Amino acid sequence: MKPRAPAAAPLLLALAIALLGSGCTGGVEGTPGAVGLRDPYFPGLGNGGYDVTHYGLKLDVDPAAGRLRGTATITARATQHLSAFHLDLAGLDVESATVEGEPAAVNRAGKELTIRPAASVDDHMREGRTFTTVVRYSGSPQAITDADGEEEGWLRTADGSVALGEPTGSLAWFPGNHHPSDKAAYDIEVTVPDPLTAVSNGQLVARRTEDGRTAYHWRTTEPMASYLATVAVGRFTTEQARTPDGIRLFTAVDPESAAASEDVLARIPEVLAWSRARFGPYPFTSAGAIVERTGDVAYALETQNRPVFPGPPDTGLLVHELAHQWFGNSVTPKTWRDMWLNEGFATYAEWLWAADHDDVPVQESFDEAYDSDANWAFPPARPPAAPDLFDPPVYGRGAMVVHRVRLAMDDDKAFFALVRGWTAKYRHGNASTDDFTAYVEEETGRDLSGLWDAWLYGGSRPAREG
Ligand code: ARG
Ligand code: ZN
Repeated sequence: MKPRAPAAAPLLLALAIALLGSGCTGGVEGTPGAVGLRDPYFPGLGNGGYDVTHYGLKLDVDPAAGRLRGTATITARATQHLSAFHLDLAGLDVESATVEGEPAAVNRAGKELTIRPAASVDDHMREGRTFTTVVRYSGSPQAITDADGEEEGWLRTADGSVALGEPTGSLAWFPGNHHPSDKAAYDIEVTVPDPLTAVSNGQLVARRTEDGRTAYHWRTTEPMASYLATVAVGRFTTEQARTPDGIRLFTAVDPESAAASEDVLARIPEVLAWSRARFGPYPFTSAGAIVERTGDVAYALETQNRPVFPGPPDTGLLVHELAHQWFGNSVTPKTWRDMWLNEGFATYAEWLWAADHDDVPVQESFDEAYDSDANWAFPPARPPAAPDLFDPPVYGRGAMVVHRVRLAMDDDKAFFALVRGWTAKYRHGNASTDDFTAYVEEETGRDLSGLWDAWLYGGSRPAREG
């Protein structure tokens, strides 16, 4: 127990805190932005008090040494009058920060940077104003072991590196608001030694070579959650093309994976057209793929526009990652609890593809998933803890929920119209499980609480025909 303080001390302390908070000491008013966004699984992830609109990342990468030097220019809108705010960043050394061009105080505690702008820029920190923060940093970006044991963050490969960020790895290579609810546009400029290539999201808008180093400037204009940002550095065989409807394609393939990837990557336009007919217009202006050398990374990720594959993908995996461009990348979960909206739909896309191309009726895929005990470990909308986010119920049982919705509809035409309406309503936004169930009930005009209770939230396996 603490010794009892004289009665006046707490009062004085409260007064001092109030004075600090009101800015009487430094001339800056406002209050500090929250240290996290209270995600159910990662409460400290993301930061309150502002909304990033644009990240400008300049990275100078030295793959041999495994080091980078970075400048992050972060444009954000204050959602409260801020006296200070946080950025998420793991590892790396922060050299300096400015806000609105004025040196800002930086404090480091674990994965949180606290930025305290100069008093002279206080006016820019008022609610609704836009302010620009520049952070200079360097060091050896690290791989992070996820809650589920996978490796993400900045991963070294045989000839370079690749950044993977689901769910929390992106804070290993740039400071930001690393929660899926804060989506932003990006300019990512990466300089690498020749003959390596740096591939990222969006469109390649410039490439400049100087003294044996080439800067690749990638631009993402459509909103992107930070877990979907990537940078892949290595020797790549690259190809550019356009789909008949004008989507820019850029594929980058490790030479060792090139021959075995050729046929499947040639099907990207076909898969996009097939998906568009079912899920609605492709939400982005760029598409493509990054294929690594087998053994360098452990899993595929639907990084925006350009999924990363751990080796030559099969068609099912390509369909899955491209489906995520609609489900996950355009319609992004509000919190990590809503993951089944990503994986359930992407898995369902595989079932639909198999029905159309491999003579496997969707009902057969459903039955197989239903019969698998692994899918019944927990309800898809309620993963017990962070290590469970990528477990079978989120994928297989998530897809079963989608199929049950389809069976509850009058016909397939109505079901696919419902799906297209969903991707249209939340295009480039965020959606929760509640948003989904409310949307389906509103569109169908039916009370589907029985379906949700049994398939989405229920603890036990409902009757197959229920
Ligand atoms: N969303 C990816 C996919 O289904 C999987 C990401 C796996 N990440 C992880 N930490 N296990 O394609
Ligand atoms: Zn997936």
